[in-house]
This record gives sequence, structure tokens and C-alpha cells, in this order.
Amino acid sequence: MTGLTSAEPGEIPARSAAEHCRELVRRQEQAGTGGSQAAVQRQHARGRLTARERIARLLDKGSFTETDAFVRHRCTSFGMAADRRDGDGVVVGHGTIDERPVVVFAQDATVFGGSMGEAFGEKVLKAMDHALKTGCPVIGLNDSGGARIQEGVVALAYYAELVRRNVRASGVIPQISLILGPCAGGAAYSPALTDFTVMAEGISHMFVTGPEVIKSVTGERTTVEELGGGLTSASVNGNAHYLAADEDDAFDYVRILLSYLPSNNAASPPRYHAPADLSVTPEDRRLDCLVPDCLNQAYDMCALVHQVLDDGEFLEVHERFARNIVCGFGRVEGASVGIVANQPLHLAGALDIDASEKAARFVRFCDAFGIPLLTFVDVPGYLSGVQLERNGIVRHGAKLLYAYAEASVPKITVVVRKAYGGGYAVMGSKHLGADVNLAWPTARIAVMGAQGAVSILHRRALADAEDPEQLRTELIADYERDVATPYPAAERGYLDAVIPPHETRPRIIRALRAVRDKRRPDPQRLHGNIPL
Ligand code: HXC
Repeated sequence: MTGLTSAEPGEIPARSAAEHCRELVRRQEQAGTGGSQAAVQRQHARGRLTARERIARLLDKGSFTETDAFVRHRCTSFGMAADRRDGDGVVVGHGTIDERPVVVFAQDATVFGGSMGEAFGEKVLKAMDHALKTGCPVIGLNDSGGARIQEGVVALAYYAELVRRNVRASGVIPQISLILGPCAGGAAYSPALTDFTVMAEGISHMFVTGPEVIKSVTGERTTVEELGGGLTSASVNGNAHYLAADEDDAFDYVRILLSYLPSNNAASPPRYHAPADLSVTPEDRRLDCLVPDCLNQAYDMCALVHQVLDDGEFLEVHERFARNIVCGFGRVEGASVGIVANQPLHLAGALDIDASEKAARFVRFCDAFGIPLLTFVDVPGYLSGVQLERNGIVRHGAKLLYAYAEASVPKITVVVRKAYGGGYAVMGSKHLGADVNLAWPTARIAVMGAQGAVSILHRRALADAEDPEQLRTELIADYERDVATPYPAAERGYLDAVIPPHETRPRIIRALRAVRDKRRPDPQRLHGNIPL
């Protein structure tokens, strides 16, 4: 016998290259299966995909390169030594979305409930570090019971390390989380630190501790749905920025969201060649009738938002939460913009705690990633009242002031109707550093609305009047005509122009052309101290 694989008498025969390759294929197949067949069936029966199925649907076809597939845990307590599955409950790697690189990690609920231990943690941290090093977005597909109980403090350490990576990456690379199962503890807190969280109807839950643990500690009986189902998270507590109909809808949302974002804070978002027509169109003219004659009548601010954006395409974030303010992304002349707009259809567009926090976070995201801000204003002011004051409307409302004042991206503001009091100041006013401020002739800029102002300023005259109601009507008319108009602000240059509504789209395009490349200052401090 001749050849490399032949053995001398008494020698153990070496394996051939082909045998080595077969061994690799066998190991790869084993590593690619995740949990047991029964666990995979259970996952499917609950209407949830497996980690690898999810990655395949999220990324460009065939683009995923998995790393660390052979990693196994080293835990020996609780009989863990007997079950050392390849991958250790998380699938990580890199791939592309619309041909742009992304890093992904997908928790595998079929292995130890997707819980994070040491080896799992090492994989995720390595992926995060790769994303930071290469400046590409990181997407976490979460489906996990949080820190792995069997691994004790080591599991906690890795979640804390992950949180540190989330913070280090914040404002440097976009971080997007999908919640695609019952996500507890660290599997909820780490996503909460990321920029956008997406949930899917019926299968997604997000909470600090699970029902079993709550029952054993407090005796309280509850369900994952009650603790933080998709609807609650998207509309009540704001944990979720989007509630998808199902997993595929969630993946679609993430892909579209990424199309508006740069890969990192030193890059620009993808830009499409879409030079705009600056002449006024019939659709532009429809804006002339948008604001109702009656001051207290609501209208849909989104009609204006759609009209100024390319093809009317607008991707709202936090659509179901704090609906009195609208935030989202669109494009003007093919380039991304962030929209913040009061929505008169809800709470008359007034700012409450949730709206202030929602918009502040959005403004800060756009600022961190160099996305210009367009602000549309119709705001009767900050909401007040005993409960709101007790809940901290001052402290929370200040977040939005801070965010706008801090933002150095191009800022363009259009006052459509009311801009009263703090609402005027905060919503992208010139005084907070906006670059271009426009107003419609219907704009009403004043410390407060006519009713309140007249009651305070003319209290005595009204008390003494023979016909107080007649006098009130006259005083209100005077205030509306002379005070609550855009012209006192325009006289001082607080507004750059008062424009007819139909000119809004072309004016915004010209303004963006003028300020898109504005110079932004280098921050001279470690960071400010936003009123959290
Ligand atoms: C180890 C876990 C686990 C965990 C679930 N499993 N959570 N294993 N550590 N944290 C395992 C279960 O033992 C089970 O294994 C499998 O995953 C599926 O779990 P089930 O309970 O059967 O599934 P389900 O009924 O869908 O309930 C899912 C759940 C529940 C709601 C997530 O498992 C749960 O409440 N787990 C604990 C959640 C929790 O309180 N985590 C907080 C950790 S503290 P078998 O072998 O039976 O299939 C934390 C702090 C981090 O994370 C610090 C952040 C800064």
C-alpha cells in the first residue's frame, strides 16, 4: 500500500482528507440543527420560527455567514454537562440587507429557552464588537428567558457586558431589536437600550420577570400577555416602536427602516437620485384647505407630511404610542429626513409626558446619525393638570427642549397653526437653533390661546362690563387679529418667511438644499446631562 494515508505496520492509520471533510460536514449538520426536534416542533406549534429560519427571512437571500457555530457552554452545574449543544442557544454572524452589511444575533428558544450564559454571551459580544469595528448596524432577534439561571452570576455578567456594548454602540451604529417570543430580564432590558424595538402580534412579550417567578415571589397570578404583550408595549408603555402583524411583517419593517439609516454615524444614509420639481403642483394646492376655519377643529397633520415627502412615503415609528405627536422617516430629493409633527387629531396635538419622551428620543437619534429634521407645528402647548404635574410633566417635558436645543443636524420648522407657549419654544423654534423657520398665514404664535389670554389680561374689565360676553368676543377678536398671528415673529426674524401652504414642499426642498451640508460643531464635553 502506498500514499499519505497508508500506515506502516503497527502505526494507527491517519484519516484521509476526505474523512476529515466528512467529519466537518457531520459536525456542521449537527451544529445547524439548534434544539431537539421536539423543541423545534414546539416552537413552530406556538407560531414562532427558529433562529436560523428568522435570519434567512430577514437577510438578503444566501448572504448569511454564521460564526462560532461550534461554541459550547462549559457549565457543569444542574446536570448541564450532559447537554452541550453546538451554538449554545444563539446564532450569530453577518450578512446583508439590500446589499449593505449587517451583524445579526438570533436567540434560539429551542436551546435552554434562548437564555444567555457564558459561551452565548461571548458570541454576542464578539458580534457586537465586530459591528462596532466595521461600522455596520446590529440586529438582535430576541426570544429568550434572559440570564441563564444555571450559570448564575456569569450569566448576569454577560448581560451587563452586553448592556455596556449597547451603550458604547449607541449613536455610533444603528441598533435594532426584534422581540419574537417571551423576552424576560436582560432579553428585555438590552433591547430597551437599542434604537428601535419591533414586536409581532401574538408571539412577542417583554417583561422584567416571568409569570412563574412572580407567582413564586409575590403569589400574584398573571400572564405574559398582561405583563407586556405587543399591543401594551406598542401603545401603552412605548417599549415597542412597531407592532408587526407577524414575523415577516416585522422583518419587512426592519429592512425598510434600515433603508433610511446610515450604516454608522460617520456615513450618510443611502441616497437615491430623485431631483424634485420645484413648481407648485395641484396636490400642493390642496394644502391651502388643510387647516379648518374653526380653530378648534382637528385635521390630519400626516396629509402635510405625505405631501412634502418623495412619493408620499413615510415610515412612522412609535405609531401607536403618544399619537399626539408623529415621528418617522421619509425622503426629500432621495435623501433621508426625520419628521416630528404635532397631530391635532389626538389631544389637539398638545405635548404630554409620553409625547415629549417619544419625540426627544427620535430627535436625538436623528441628530446622532446626521439625519435632518423637519418639524411641523400645531401645538396648544404642554398639557397641564394636577395629575400631569404630579407625574412630572416639567421634568419629562424638558427632555424635548434638551433634545432640540442639543441637535445640530439641519433643522427646518413649519408652523402650521397653533404654536402657543412652551409649545412654540420647544417645537424646533429659531431660538433652539433651527436653521430655517417658516409659517403659514394660519399660524398663531402667542404665549397662550385667546381665551386664556383675555381672561387673564382683562379680568377686571370683564368683571365690570355691562355685557361681559360681548366684550370677551371683541377682545378675543382683537387678540386673534393682532397678537396670535405669525407676523410679530416674522418682524423679528424669528420666522424666515410666512408662506402660502402650497409653497411648503418647494420651500422645504430649497431649505434642505441650502442647509444639508451645514457645519456641525465638535462637542467640547464628554456629554450633557439630559433630564432623564
Ligand atoms: C434557564 C430557562 C430560562 C432561564 C426559560 N428557560 N428561561 N433556562 N434560564 N432564564 C428554559 C425552561 O427551563 C425551559 O426548558 C425552556 O427554557 C422553555 O421555557 P418554558 O418556561 O417552558 O417556556 P414558556 O412557558 O414559553 O415561558 C417562557 C418564559 C419562562 C416566560 C420566558 O420560561 C420564564 O418565566 N423564564 C424565566 C424568566 C425570567 O424571569 N428571567 C429573568 C432572568 S434575570 P426545558 O428544558 O423545560 O425546555 C435577567 C437579568 C439580566 O435576565 C440583567 C440585565 C441587565
